[in-house]
Amino acid sequence: MHPADDIRGSASKKLSGKKIVLCVTGSIAAVESVRLARELLRHDAEVIPVMTLAATRILHPDALWFATGKKPIVELSGDTEHVKYCGVTNKSAHLVLVSPCTANTISKIALGIDDTAVTTFVTTAIGSKIPIVVVPAMHGSMYNHGVVQKNIERCKKEGICFIDPFLCEGKAKMADLEEIVESVIRLVGKRDLTKKRILVVGGATAQPLDDMRILTNRSSGKTAVALAKCAFERGAIIDLWFGFGLERIPSYLSVKRFMTVSDLLGFVTVKELRKYDGLIVCAAIADYIPEKHKGKIPSGKEKLLLELSPAPKVISKIRKCVPKAVLVGFKVESKKEKAIERAVELLNKNKLDFVIANTLSAFGSTDSEIWIVNKKEKVIHKQGTKDVLADAILDLVC
Ligand SMILES: Cc1cc2nc3c(=O)[nH]c(=O)nc-3n(C[C@H](O)[C@H](O)[C@H](O)COP(=O)(O)O)c2cc1C
Repeated sequence: MHPADDIRGSASKKLSGKKIVLCVTGSIAAVESVRLARELLRHDAEVIPVMTLAATRILHPDALWFATGKKPIVELSGDTEHVKYCGVTNKSAHLVLVSPCTANTISKIALGIDDTAVTTFVTTAIGSKIPIVVVPAMHGSMYNHGVVQKNIERCKKEGICFIDPFLCEGKAKMADLEEIVESVIRLVGKRDLTKKRILVVGGATAQPLDDMRILTNRSSGKTAVALAKCAFERGAIIDLWFGFGLERIPSYLSVKRFMTVSDLLGFVTVKELRKYDGLIVCAAIADYIPEKHKGKIPSGKEKLLLELSPAPKVISKIRKCVPKAVLVGFKVESKKEKAIERAVELLNKNKLDFVIANTLSAFGSTDSEIWIVNKKEKVIHKQGTKDVLADAILDLVC
């Protein structure tokens, strides 16, 4: 067993049985490919490293050999490695990932030139219709070159998927590793939500008490982010409306932020919502709204009484906008029995398709326990990490 196998599948089994050809070209970002290969292994992929000669000047092949447990292919041999992995009769590779990809290699791919191991793998994969992902990395001036841009468009017309760089310090820097790994999972994974557009509304609301203070709750937004990530991985078009919460939102997710109930209600229109097949509302939305004082309430008072009024119910407005879409609500209470009872009430009152009942122990933790209540008031119990539960909840919108 090679030491690389020690980390195999340690993060998930999402890439089990998947063979990913990792093509590395002569960009300085080649130094990141060790970490990229290791992340793919952690999700249980088999990684076949292929390098251009220019890449070997930046990163020694031994580094990728160590990282993947496989000797990088730098020169093709009588073994015809490109055909072995990407030939139309074998098609043993599930995806070819060119990361980082130089301006030079992009243009060669666009023109069908294959004079390196990397470009020969890509040309073969195009002909065999194996999915290809290109992750450009280069100086800004190279990226702005009209011919490079035209060649990117040409590659896209061939069906090649690009993960766009981010422009910073005059460079077109390689996308972050998390986005690359998630995109690989999205392309070779279950893909059972590819025809679905899903909205997740998560995080807490934060109502102002004055110009400085807010009244909020302990929702971290973890469930919302887990649901959005999982929907992305399963191929959905996913939008996240996210309130106040500490959870980091991955850069590849499309996010709209809100703070107050009124901000959120402002998003809820028929025009905005009718595009969704499924809507999951796991946000911890205020039940009571304080009256906002102008400026700052002075400190040092002996007693401070706050007056709160009941908040309008966002979920019922959402249901009115989309009477037919699958709508999933959440209900949290201190005790399981109460949570289920209130979940049934919420479901019937707003004609929801499902309500997820959970208890306060779920707040902020990575593991949780849920009870899914369906229209027939049947209760299904699930327990696990928020990622595992996100998968089960998304099965409801399939
Ligand atoms: C240290 C160093 C860093 C480089 N970084 C980049 C880069 O980030 N992007 C790029 O397109 N070219 C970069 N180049 C230039 C490429 O290595 C050069 O165009 C080479 O011919 C690419 O060959 P390949 O596409 O076969 O790997 C760099 C060159 C050197 C020496």
